[in-house]
Amino acid sequence: MASASAEQLAHPMDNIPVRNLRFDTETLRGESALWSHSKPDFSMFINALGIHVPYFERFLVAVFREVRADIGDADLMGDVKGIIGQEAHHAFNFVGWNEVMSARYPRVSELEADAAQHFANMSTKRSRFFQVGYVAGYETFTFLAGAIILDRYEELMGDADPVMRALWVWHQVEEVEHGAVAFDVYKYFYAEREWARKFFVLLAFAHITKETLRAYLHMGRVEGFWHQSVRGFKAADFFVRFAADLARSALPVLKRDYHPRNHPICNENQNKAALAWRQRYDAGLTTLAIEQGDLTCALEGKAGGSRQ
Ligand SMILES: [Fe+2]
Ligand SMILES: [Fe+2]
Repeated sequence: MASASAEQLAHPMDNIPVRNLRFDTETLRGESALWSHSKPDFSMFINALGIHVPYFERFLVAVFREVRADIGDADLMGDVKGIIGQEAHHAFNFVGWNEVMSARYPRVSELEADAAQHFANMSTKRSRFFQVGYVAGYETFTFLAGAIILDRYEELMGDADPVMRALWVWHQVEEVEHGAVAFDVYKYFYAEREWARKFFVLLAFAHITKETLRAYLHMGRVEGFWHQSVRGFKAADFFVRFAADLARSALPVLKRDYHPRNHPICNENQNKAALAWRQRYDAGLTTLAIEQGDLTCALEGKAGGSRQ
């Protein structure tokens, strides 16, 4: 441990910087939306998942802007400011990508409208307790998906469109960085309602899965996958396995003494792709397009391989 660098010792949730990035996803208009050549099914999965995500992110921003006036802890206030900034930039970029995707997939606008309505109902018809709980439940999975995808970076995005790869690495890095904030806000206000915290985790998982499946089925239909038994099976298999991985990774979340910082997926040995991405950003190199090898080469010789 004595030879480990300071950044290897740091916890990925130690800092929540707001990075104002704008990705030029227009370059993919008219191209295939299956931007990962390593794993096309992953790009369809994450495209499907991402349709409703900006509407959740805007909901999170609205809820946290509302509750922050009642937070008396300066550290937590700082974290809330960080997550609001990060999520606002996420939402902007994802709405842009949805618009590009809608040229390929005719039901994207309808799926977006449903998502906007769902979170509008949450805003007007649910209590503050329910809103904070729902946000915490959702953020459980954005954090876990972030860590899972970064751990499988080479397999899922090793050969991919540089802009879309850059967008998703940026998003996943930041989801891990602010992965404890919604949990801490829930605990700050409702620490005694532990049973409800678990209920919201399950509720959010059900909603994320439902929304992603609807979009995935539509996209698979447009791509013609469901008429080809082998291709269709492969795509269905990817969905089921990824959803199962996500569900399995959430099991520690249901423990009474859980905290995101202590989740086994997020320990003191930081993900190498995330570290390399931060190094690029801090060095002033572009993070708006990530070329093949940009992240894997950066840390070669230091630790290599996936996180243990
Ligand atoms: Fe986000
Ligand atoms: Fe988030």
